[in-house]
Amino acid sequence: MCGIIGYAGEQRALPILRTGLENLEYRGYDSVGVALGGDDGLRLFKQAGRIADLALPADDDATVGVGHTRWSTHGKPTDANAHPHTDCTGDVAVVHNGIIENYDSLREELGDHAFTSETDTEVVPHLVETFRDAGHDLPEAVARTLDRLEGTFALGVVAADFDGIVAARRDNPLVVGHGETGNFIASDVTAFLEHTREVTYVEDGDVAVLSEGGVEITNDGRAVDRPRERVEWEAEAAEKSGYDHYMLKEIHEQPTALRQTLSGRIDELNGEAEIEIDLPKEYLNSLDEVTFIACGTSYHAGLYAAQLVESLADVRASAEVASEYEFDGGRDPWRTLVVPVTQSGETADTLSALRRAKRAGARSLAVTNTLGSTVTREADDTVFIRAGPEIGVAATKTFVSQVATLALLTVSVARARGTMSTTEAIEFLSNVRQLPGAVQRVLDAEAAVRDAAETYADGGAFFFIGRKLGYPVALEGALKLKEIAYVHAEGFAAGELKHGPLALVTSDSPVLAVLSQGANAHATLNNVKEVESRGAPVLGCTSVADAEKFLDRSFEVPELGALSPLVANVCFQLFAYHVAKLKGRSIDKPRNLAKSVTVE
Ligand code: G6P
Repeated sequence: MCGIIGYAGEQRALPILRTGLENLEYRGYDSVGVALGGDDGLRLFKQAGRIADLALPADDDATVGVGHTRWSTHGKPTDANAHPHTDCTGDVAVVHNGIIENYDSLREELGDHAFTSETDTEVVPHLVETFRDAGHDLPEAVARTLDRLEGTFALGVVAADFDGIVAARRDNPLVVGHGETGNFIASDVTAFLEHTREVTYVEDGDVAVLSEGGVEITNDGRAVDRPRERVEWEAEAAEKSGYDHYMLKEIHEQPTALRQTLSGRIDELNGEAEIEIDLPKEYLNSLDEVTFIACGTSYHAGLYAAQLVESLADVRASAEVASEYEFDGGRDPWRTLVVPVTQSGETADTLSALRRAKRAGARSLAVTNTLGSTVTREADDTVFIRAGPEIGVAATKTFVSQVATLALLTVSVARARGTMSTTEAIEFLSNVRQLPGAVQRVLDAEAAVRDAAETYADGGAFFFIGRKLGYPVALEGALKLKEIAYVHAEGFAAGELKHGPLALVTSDSPVLAVLSQGANAHATLNNVKEVESRGAPVLGCTSVADAEKFLDRSFEVPELGALSPLVANVCFQLFAYHVAKLKGRSIDKPRNLAKSVTVE
């Protein structure tokens, strides 16, 4: 996620901002920038790349400023797209974390303003400019601007003639720090922890005005008194927001990641998915086939999506392990849409599969988390999953965001092909929209999963079973456990158990089953009985009535139709995490594995 730091006080702002940005580096970023305020006007320094390479002056007298690490969501990682962004006069500068959903229409409305970037953020300083031109001071101009914004944000705003910072938030983290010689804003407390541990967590709708003298917070125009808290964490724990591992933090970030993924992309009224790709209707109607190519967790997302595409868009679809993929072209290669799915956008196996497909003449559409990555340059089109950076090697939040993005892609293909009625699309999209809340409900029940992990962690092997959309989830559940707990785990199509794997099932091999909607739960219950009669304990993620009576442990999954198995996966993530923790494994950096594998 992007990182924000700001300081207003007696000390020179530049060194504070520089170390603040370094403290935020762990969040992942591709561009960086700083705006310094003061009597000489604003001074702006920003560029794509690392903080260490940002050309900052050796010294500067400014005692007010904001800094930003950008992790691209709208517009590539370029110097122009780096924050802060300014208005036409260069007198207002803004740093932003989040997504302004209505930036297109605002940009149109601000037609006579000179825009210099491709970002959604840039509408903010220009709107502030219009309200300042109408005679409002900076805090009022920012407050009026916020009323015009749809979407999510944490914002820090400085202006040439204002001795302080105006900050605001909606659905994005923002914390104020109260120091002895000045005050701070940041995306998280790590940014300023060496200066103060006294903080105030800004709430949704709050506008905070920071100056040397203090901090005033208003909400809806009225002054509010937010409590001060003392942070007892050390910097390392604070980077993980108090979680023991990045992986657990990222598991818990999934509702937020999903909100970002879905933001502005669902038109539930008309049953349309609005993803920013240009695949002409005629092309989609002429499709012979959709092939997802990917590795690891992304391959499982591809398997999930292939089933959605086949059932909803009525076109042949499959997922292929990228390292095994060959494409001979067929009759008319262009009528095969090849979809590389890759969190990093840099996985060598996926890139080389894409190149083979392109050479054979296929059309390609990349699905990735990383703007500016190699796959975005090589594929014909790209859609971003907007999950925010993932630091844990084992993918979690990017899986759920990949599947959610691919579900939207499926709707848009199905609607173009006329295979999904408006009513069907509305119902499906309503389930998609409910994903963040459903995932949150599973997270809220973490204690039960942890308890199960404590009971069964010593199992000799773990078998995950599922049917239909539960099958890729079974594979993904087993992969997580292998990756981080280093135990033998396998995922099977539940119906295949009796054709071999059943020979491995004993009382020492817990079986984890997907028994939700979208996973043919009733048929899988028969398999549950098969393994139970061999003495295996069975843990089930279920959204069907009465299933729990066949289970040693059951975890409830909200009913979300074809998306229930995706939510069930969150139970498996938590299970893998707690087993690995009990075993004392290196969870964020498992042995022998890398986050991004750039060799074939
Ligand atoms: C590595 C990672 C996996 C990931 C896979 C594909 O093996 O350890 O977590 O799923 O690469 O990565 P990608 O960036 O292409 O999604």
